[in-house]
Amino acid sequence: MRIAVVAALVATSITITAPQVEALENGLARTPPMGFNNWNTTGCRAEFNEAMVKGIADIFVNKGLKDVGYQYVNLDDCWAKTTRDSNGNLVPDPVRFPNGIKALADYVHSKGLKIGIYTSAGTKTCNTAGFPGALGHEQQDANLFASWGIDYLKYDNCNNQGVDAVQRYTKMRDALKNTGRPIVYSICEWGRSEPKVWTWGPDTGNLWRTTGDISDNWTSMIGKAKANRVLAQYAKPGAWNDPDMLEVGNGGMTATEYRTHFSLWAIMAAPLLIGSDLRKVNDDTFTILKNTDVIAVDQDPLGKQGTVISNSNGLVVYSKVLANGDRAVALSNENTSTATISTSASAIGIGGSSSYTLKDLWSKQTRTTTGSISASVPAHGTVMYRVSRSGNVNRIEAENATISQGVVESNHAGFSGTGFVNGTNAVGPYVEWTINATQAGTVTLTFGYANGTTANRPVDLTVNGTLVRDELAFNGTGAWTNYSSVTTTVTLVAGENKIRVTATTANGAANLDYLDIT
Ligand code: GLA
Repeated sequence: MRIAVVAALVATSITITAPQVEALENGLARTPPMGFNNWNTTGCRAEFNEAMVKGIADIFVNKGLKDVGYQYVNLDDCWAKTTRDSNGNLVPDPVRFPNGIKALADYVHSKGLKIGIYTSAGTKTCNTAGFPGALGHEQQDANLFASWGIDYLKYDNCNNQGVDAVQRYTKMRDALKNTGRPIVYSICEWGRSEPKVWTWGPDTGNLWRTTGDISDNWTSMIGKAKANRVLAQYAKPGAWNDPDMLEVGNGGMTATEYRTHFSLWAIMAAPLLIGSDLRKVNDDTFTILKNTDVIAVDQDPLGKQGTVISNSNGLVVYSKVLANGDRAVALSNENTSTATISTSASAIGIGGSSSYTLKDLWSKQTRTTTGSISASVPAHGTVMYRVSRSGNVNRIEAENATISQGVVESNHAGFSGTGFVNGTNAVGPYVEWTINATQAGTVTLTFGYANGTTANRPVDLTVNGTLVRDELAFNGTGAWTNYSSVTTTVTLVAGENKIRVTATTANGAANLDYLDIT
């Protein structure tokens, strides 16, 4: 008998436990910042000036970059004079910025864009000309930036006098907060000191550099990706790992390599700060930077950084969980000859469907697969897909069911959907799935779960309030990242059915991942 099952999206009431550490939570950068910064193209050269910055803002509007999400037009080092004024204020270089920064900010704002500035958490910035840094001047400089209408601060690490990094960066965080102006806070500490910035970055800034400076070549770029891709657990909305600004368009890599650069930054939910002079770049550069499918992966509202699923001697598979349950997958070839890279829907955590749609985010072609995901990838190239279930969808994620006494978590990789339900460790917490059957009949239920202990965590299974399995065993899987399943057969009535599993011991239930109905 065939029974069509429809997932009923039931409103859930979930208790969120308090975070363990106080977060920055300034409400900004809920998705990774997108914009421009001049450093990778100009360094400190004279062409970094008012005309350039205005020209970039104009191009953001005229060439549709604003429309696809680019927002921040950021100034890097060398914007200031080498000495403060008699009141101790920073002074814009009158040759580069003859009308000052406030007028420039007004211009950028008039285009519906935002503006960022730069200084260092040291006595001087990084450039050898010796521009003043903000160490010991934090509040005065923050106030000045706010008075100019600044929306974003990149805070560098040079000439820091050996003062503790947490102390220096926290001081500026609080100074920015005191201004009352919303200012995105970009920590540029390079992942250098202990404790590592990614452990305190989420409490302190909206993004933090995880590496030293990028250069416009393959070796540098892929090195930044390798360092950054192991840090996925630290990223979340409002708090992002930053493997440095984009080099796309600067000329030192091939178009294939620049597509890899952009693909990897997107799957790692990295900031997308354009680092080329858009007044001079070719059309290929705009095609890469304006790929809205790839941008959507970067900007996905769930805010999960993708992770490496497998790495076979430089043939690397990355996967990123997306808010609608899809997965982004990048098949990335770090080697110097063409190779086939393969994975599968279940390996990237999206099993449970008889077929899938793969959309190639660069060629824009779509195809269907029963689960295999494979492509021939050129040297230094990356094939990127958005993978969605398109078959008989008979899986309902536990996180979409009704949850009594439990929280949705995603800290143990390997789950399907966007997470799993960690029920309270007690007798009585339950998860209840609502399913509609077109006719009465027998179905097989498969519960996906993980039980990181070695002890059984039994549940009572009821269908429409009737106990159908007493103490159904959910045996230990040895680790919270080891997922397994329990299968049983039940009879459904035509129409709505409530399938509930209730913890029966003080240890609570296993982490519940999904229910498949076949
Ligand atoms: C450091 C930073 C770079 C850039 C320069 C400017 O090297 O890491 O991103 O801001 O300083 O001097």
